[in-house]
Parts: sequence; structure tokens; C-alpha cells
Amino acid sequence: MNEIEKMSDFFTSRVDTYDEHMLNDVEGCKEAYIKMAELVPENTENLLDLGCGTGLELDEIFKIYPNIEVTGIDLTRAMLDKLGEKHHDKKLNLIHGSYFDVPLGESIFDCAVSFQTMHHFSHEAKTELYTKIRQSLKDGGVYIECDYMVESQKEEDFWYAENDRIRKKLGIASGEFYHFDTPCTIDNQTAMLKKAGFERAEKVFRIENTTIIVAYK
Ligand SMILES: C[S@@+](CC[C@H](N)C(=O)[O-])C[C@H]1O[C@@H](n2cnc3c(N)ncnc32)[C@H](O)[C@@H]1O
Repeated sequence: MNEIEKMSDFFTSRVDTYDEHMLNDVEGCKEAYIKMAELVPENTENLLDLGCGTGLELDEIFKIYPNIEVTGIDLTRAMLDKLGEKHHDKKLNLIHGSYFDVPLGESIFDCAVSFQTMHHFSHEAKTELYTKIRQSLKDGGVYIECDYMVESQKEEDFWYAENDRIRKKLGIASGEFYHFDTPCTIDNQTAMLKKAGFERAEKVFRIENTTIIVAYK
């Protein structure tokens, strides 16, 4: 096994065991999928899901809002196929691509969510993406992010340094998507969202490192 795998290869090779792994092995996720669904505002008609994968968060959201219209973006075809099969009866617009490249439009969505996908990128890339997400939301819209976050700057710095070291060793260009976890502190996450123009951003849930922040446009 390579020290680091291409993002879509990583998820393609794990697609069959992915759901069980997230629900049973990653502490706090099972509870956070339910919590995220509860946080989706009641009036939501159009929802954007960045890095939707097989749709574990959508499983819970559809239980409360079965008629919601969802745009889901994911880099990994196999994950999207599984989601499409599972929720073939729902209003789903699935886009195979990178959320950094796919245009999100302006004032389209009541709510945007992302679950366990943002812990792979630099502060700069995320802040730019958060700006794009904010613009895609209607006035009063919310962005709900659940992710792997850490407490200390030291820990964050360690993982970014490891990522740099491995990429340098393997000669991987900085823009290429490889699977390596670079979790940020909750404070840095909140600061990035504010820098991206969100009015406020608040941590509302944390079990182990699984953390939810809600950002308000
Ligand atoms: C840990 S999975 C989370 C999937 C789902 N949200 C869940 O919680 O079950 C991360 C997902 O993010 C996707 N992903 C990673 N980088 C991406 C990017 N730049 N654009 C779109 N999807 C991306 C991966 O393909 C993968 O399906």
C-alpha cells in the first residue's frame, strides 16, 4: 500500500465497506449525521452537499425532508453511483467533479452541507471555497460543516508538515487531490468561515474529533 493514495482511488477501493466504517468506526459520526439533519433549517427547499459521497448525511436529511431538492458534488464516481442507487426516488442532481471547480451559482441554495470532506486542503483553498459557498446561498442561508477538527495548533501544524513531507518525497504537485488528513483547529475553521464573509460561525457539536460548525450568511 502506498503511503498516500489519489483521493478518488482511495474512496473507490473502499466504497463497499465505506458506510459501515463511518457509522461504526469513526467516533461521533453516527450521532453527527443525525445532528446535521436536525440543524437543516425548516424552510429548506434546495440543499447543496459538497463531497456527498454515498450520502450518509442525506440518509438522515431525507428522513426529515423527503421532498427536498439536493445538488450533490463528489470527485468519486463509485461513491455517487451508490448514492444514486440508494435514493433513486429522490430529487437528486449529482455532479461528478471537484467542488473547487464546479460553479455553484449565486443565491441558489437555502442550505449547504459538507460532512468529513474538508480536512484535506489548505487554509487558502478552503477560504476561497467558503466564499463560493456563501455566494451560492440565499440571504439568510446557512452552511453546516461536520469535519475532523483538532484542539491544538501544534497538532494541526504536525499534520500539514507530514502532508508536505510525503508529497515532496513522492513529487506530488500541490494542486493534486491525494487522501491525507490535515485537520484544522476549531478556531482556525471558524476564522476561515468569517474571512470568507459569513456573518457568524459557531461550533454546535463535538464528539471526539467529529465537530459541527454552523455558518450564517
Ligand atoms: C470521507 S468521504 C465523506 C462522504 C460523505 N459526506 C459522508 O460523510 O459519508 C469524503 C468524500 O469527499 C469527496 N471529495 C474529496 N475531495 C473532493 C473534491 N475536491 N471535490 C468533490 N468531492 C471531494 C471524496 O470523493 C469522498 O466521497
